Amino acid sequence: MISDFLKYQAQTTPHPLALEVSHAKGSYIYDSNGKGHLDFVAGVSACSVGHTHPKLVQAIQEQTAKYMHVMVYGEYAQKPAIDYTKSLAALLPEGLDCTYLVNSGTEAIEGAMKLARRATGRHEIIAAHHAYHGNTMGSLSVMGYEDRKAAFRPLVPGVRFIHFNAFIELSQITEKTAAVLLETIQGGAGFICPNNGYLKAVKERCEAVGALLILDEIQPGFGRTGALFAFEHYQCVPHILVVGKGMAGGLPVGAFIASKPLMDLLQEKPSLGHITTFGGNPVIASACKATLEIIQEENLMAQTLEKEAFLRRKLQHPDIKEIRGKGLMLALILASPEKANELVLEASKNGLILFWLLFEKKAVRISPPLTISMDELEKGCDLILKILDKNTRTLN
Ligand SMILES: Cc1ncc(COP(=O)(O)O)c(C=O)c1O
Repeated sequence: MISDFLKYQAQTTPHPLALEVSHAKGSYIYDSNGKGHLDFVAGVSACSVGHTHPKLVQAIQEQTAKYMHVMVYGEYAQKPAIDYTKSLAALLPEGLDCTYLVNSGTEAIEGAMKLARRATGRHEIIAAHHAYHGNTMGSLSVMGYEDRKAAFRPLVPGVRFIHFNAFIELSQITEKTAAVLLETIQGGAGFICPNNGYLKAVKERCEAVGALLILDEIQPGFGRTGALFAFEHYQCVPHILVVGKGMAGGLPVGAFIASKPLMDLLQEKPSLGHITTFGGNPVIASACKATLEIIQEENLMAQTLEKEAFLRRKLQHPDIKEIRGKGLMLALILASPEKANELVLEASKNGLILFWLLFEKKAVRISPPLTISMDELEKGCDLILKILDKNTRTLN
């Protein structure tokens, strides 16, 4: 199976982890030998309610049996998407009451950028150095890492970069700016949280010059930081909110959310301002609704903060220089990229799934399912500490 995987399926790196998956349940992924791997990554923050949660599976199965794709996005009234977007509007602050459901995070970013251009008649987008927003051409254009972009130029023009958390650079947001696009918590850069008052200052500057603030919550969204959305921690409601990943509990999805008058602009001049075949798909919308209900019914957001506190207490080791992030979106910062790499690979050999971050090479990602138990967390932490101890002894 692995040789066919490497031969027929396009690869993203020459050294994939290549775990041969048999099935997954709760916090474990089982390989083809029946060995369980404790999942501290959750498909990179996507499997928010664990693997094959019975309520989620039931919702998907029931909707699949009723109907699947029936029409392109926006034409037919389909209950799963209507119910879900209505529930979101009830949970979100005023001004974020209309949701455009799409197929992935990067597509949601593209939609948000288009909406900002359409609404302001301007084309400049300001993004942050070290930002990651996805991999299609528009999202790539706002990626804050030149070496990942050079081979694909020319990209979308009119993108400028500021440093995340640098108040002094906010003067670069001007009357020419259509939107400022930021991750609420920078992911690939190393799980960097906004400083006190930073996001509010960005929004104030945007409003002073008539620009829009777009917050990318594709990673921290849907309970991962202990609030439904991370912006709630920073008292800053964006004009456009972009979500994805954990939203459908493990099915492909994304969405951009704005006020109804703003979103209505995509209907005219030109009409069909953003269209998609599968956006709002009823099976996926049912999964989104079930995931949201599980997060609420199982009180996962409050537990997330307890689990964060546990991880921070437990993961104390001379090799862990810092733990960054919030809730169950944490990064262990080790002394060197080599140490981080060793930890990920050694853990993987010992049945614990850890992962790297895109850009911060000294970081090891800890983003388990929100449903992970304290015992499972403890088991994973013990293994991490054991590996670090062993590596320290080997190196000394
Ligand atoms: C912050 C952020 N934005 C956008 C994306 C892109 O989402 P997708 O991979 O679903 O296109 C990701 C994915 O990792 C992300 O972490």
